[in-house]
Amino acid sequence: MKETKLIKEFKKICTDGYNQGWHERNGGNLSYRMNDDEVNELKEYFNEDGKWQDIGTEVKDLANEYFMVTGSGKYFKNVSDEFEDAVCILKVSEDGKQYKIVYGLVNGGRPTSELPTHLMNLEVLKQRDKDIRIVYHCHPVNTIALTFVLPLEDEIFTREIWEMMTECPIIFPKGIGVINWMVPGGREIGVKTSEIMKEKDVAIWAHHGMFVCGKNFDETFGLMYTVEKSAEILVKVLSMSKEKLNTITADDFRKLQEPFGVTLEEKYLYEKKSKKIGEK
Ligand code: 13P
Ligand code: ZN
Repeated sequence: MKETKLIKEFKKICTDGYNQGWHERNGGNLSYRMNDDEVNELKEYFNEDGKWQDIGTEVKDLANEYFMVTGSGKYFKNVSDEFEDAVCILKVSEDGKQYKIVYGLVNGGRPTSELPTHLMNLEVLKQRDKDIRIVYHCHPVNTIALTFVLPLEDEIFTREIWEMMTECPIIFPKGIGVINWMVPGGREIGVKTSEIMKEKDVAIWAHHGMFVCGKNFDETFGLMYTVEKSAEILVKVLSMSKEKLNTITADDFRKLQEPFGVTLEEKYLYEKKSKKIGEK
């Protein structure tokens, strides 16, 4: 397989994520909606004779498109060295209900168990902005830890994470969506996650991990890194005190909007009646 820019970047994000400690064993998965040039560049390696298989959901707006996706049970640690074993390129059928593997997973296997969530996310993201092509899922320690102590509400999670670093609301102005614990790997959790991705770039699965999206690999990785870094600061703050002595206020956040060209929804900028972290 030719080492195209896409393949290099796909491998790199997997290695970078592994080096952050976000991908124990086979934890996490990654998908990329390929553009025509990227498909043409690799088409000579495709085998279109594969068997059509059910996705487990319907993604009509992705019909006939090609996706680069990590395999189920594959380790991010190995993606760079064992690309053909760990990753596949698949095509979505005309009716949006099936896929077939056209490249990769040379030793057998199937695409990530989170394929329904990835494809449903990529579908709503394409509708939102056709340049958003990447969905990335990992298991970052601090973000997961917070899901045990913060109320699982979008407003509270967003506000507490925003408060940890000034640039957070500039990087993810639409905030964070949080989902209560659910069985992973199926359509149901995919529906919930794609509801969030209709407008937000970050979704947290309680006691499991995080999903982010992006237009390119640097931006996608950078978003994951930013949320997880803020979560780490919050874990440190919480380990010192249940209350903050100083913080960024709702009015401070409002002042960021004009100079940085972002609009922040007022639902995240509630006046706090309590100093306790996680209370409104
Ligand atoms: P897969 O190995 O099937 O991608 O599953 C890993 C994971 O993180 C499930 O949420
Ligand atoms: Zn997971």
